[in-house]
Amino acid sequence: MEDSKPRLVGAIDVGTGSSRFLIFNENLELKFSLKEKAHRKELGQHSPKEGWLEQDPIELLESVRLCIGGVADSLRLEGTPISSIHGVGITNQRETTILWDKLTGVPFYNAIVWSDNRTRQLADALIASTPNNNKDYLRPKCGLPIHPYFSALKIRWLIDNVEEVRIAVAGKTCLFGTVDSWIIWNLTGGISGGCHVTDVTNASRTMLMDLQTCKWDTELCSFFGIPMSILPEIRSSSEVYGHISEGPLKGIPISGCLGDQQAALVGQRCFKKGDAKNTYGTGCFLLYNTGLVPVRSSNGLLTTVAYKMGSEADVHYALEGSVAMAGQCVRWLRDNMKFFTDAQEIERLAESVHDTAGVYFVPAFSGLYAPHWQSDARGLIIGLSSYTNKGHICRATLEAVCFQSREILEAMNQDSELPLASLKVDGGMTVNKLLLQLQADLLGIPVEKEDMSETTVLGAAIAAGIGVGVWPNQLDSIPQSMAVTLFNPSIDHDNRDSRYYRWKEAVKRCMHWEG
Ligand code: G3P
Repeated sequence: MEDSKPRLVGAIDVGTGSSRFLIFNENLELKFSLKEKAHRKELGQHSPKEGWLEQDPIELLESVRLCIGGVADSLRLEGTPISSIHGVGITNQRETTILWDKLTGVPFYNAIVWSDNRTRQLADALIASTPNNNKDYLRPKCGLPIHPYFSALKIRWLIDNVEEVRIAVAGKTCLFGTVDSWIIWNLTGGISGGCHVTDVTNASRTMLMDLQTCKWDTELCSFFGIPMSILPEIRSSSEVYGHISEGPLKGIPISGCLGDQQAALVGQRCFKKGDAKNTYGTGCFLLYNTGLVPVRSSNGLLTTVAYKMGSEADVHYALEGSVAMAGQCVRWLRDNMKFFTDAQEIERLAESVHDTAGVYFVPAFSGLYAPHWQSDARGLIIGLSSYTNKGHICRATLEAVCFQSREILEAMNQDSELPLASLKVDGGMTVNKLLLQLQADLLGIPVEKEDMSETTVLGAAIAAGIGVGVWPNQLDSIPQSMAVTLFNPSIDHDNRDSRYYRWKEAVKRCMHWEG
């Protein structure tokens, strides 16, 4: 007899701002309203010193358990058996680094968040040790510049500064993981046999993996002085890593794992060479699928793994433009500047004025990422006058996100030699229609937004579904079309370029501020 239960897949997203757990059916339709608070939990961030950013690994884990519990309750209420969930995918903020004790399961230190800048001097010293003082010395192997953003430097800092880590490394009881590894290890049993794994996309952000072989590389590890014994096993993005050993999802396989930006690429179904998407979350990340070839950037972009959908599948690569501050600027206006109490209010305030009245905001809080890679840049707001009000600064904040995306798009167009004709967008900030109109205006190309904005979680759900055979023909059987809203440019070329020119002038002024 045919099984009449719906075939569902779940996916957990542990971002920098929040965790959530969502469920999709075989047609990629979302179950339950996104507004259900039980399925989303905002996450705390701690900044113990200027330039440092940490999160509590236990809070990250508990937020996942809470979201899973919320979804399980909703499923029970509507009478859907939990066993309808065939697999669960994980997607996560990338590079964020956690070291923990494999015997006790206790983290040795807080998670050092991807945008944390504490290793700036360490990065400078390592760059100085390379022939020709070259920050791109390791790029041919790992696709990345030597920079505090990536996990290797954070691990090195923990080994150098936390005594318990040094002892555990010597005693071979220390485990390293990005957030995916930490969550999977815990959900699959922790100290009683949890799976210590990561996927190729997350591994490609550590600076320790060879992009061609997709294996940990002895030379890279020895360059940073990192013992290979602490590293998780690298697996594909779509396969069964283990089964959940606790809570309402006990027994369900974890069958997909992707870094969040790669998950958004998959969620937007950018499966062909030349497909691209821009995700506006805490930061903003434009990924361009380059197919089976890892393309080396000449314009400050990163080369990264896009996905590998199965242990025997081909590795697909992407060029990436990473912007550190997007939604985080809005959070800063809310939490530090007390401009508003709800992040959504920025749209109304920005709409209360016609333009920024000449105000430009360069949010280089942790330096500038792509295409500049200047960790000694610092933020500025310029063009203030006695006429300036909150609305102008809110509007300049939204424009800052758009100008940074334009810088990335220009670099991407130069590297690919095939200018993008339109830009697919997603992420939490894209509920802001003014942002998307400003983006179309400042890029001069249409911006396409899918009406379902949870594409990151969707990408992880696709990986999980493929991993357990929900879509047996892999990417070819993934439902393609979804409703989109289009934002067309509405300003002329001169207006667009003169504003961009002023932005570039503002960027020049914030360089090397930390000296
Ligand atoms: O590389 C950092 C990125 O993965 C963070 O994503 O969602 O927190 O902006 P998000």
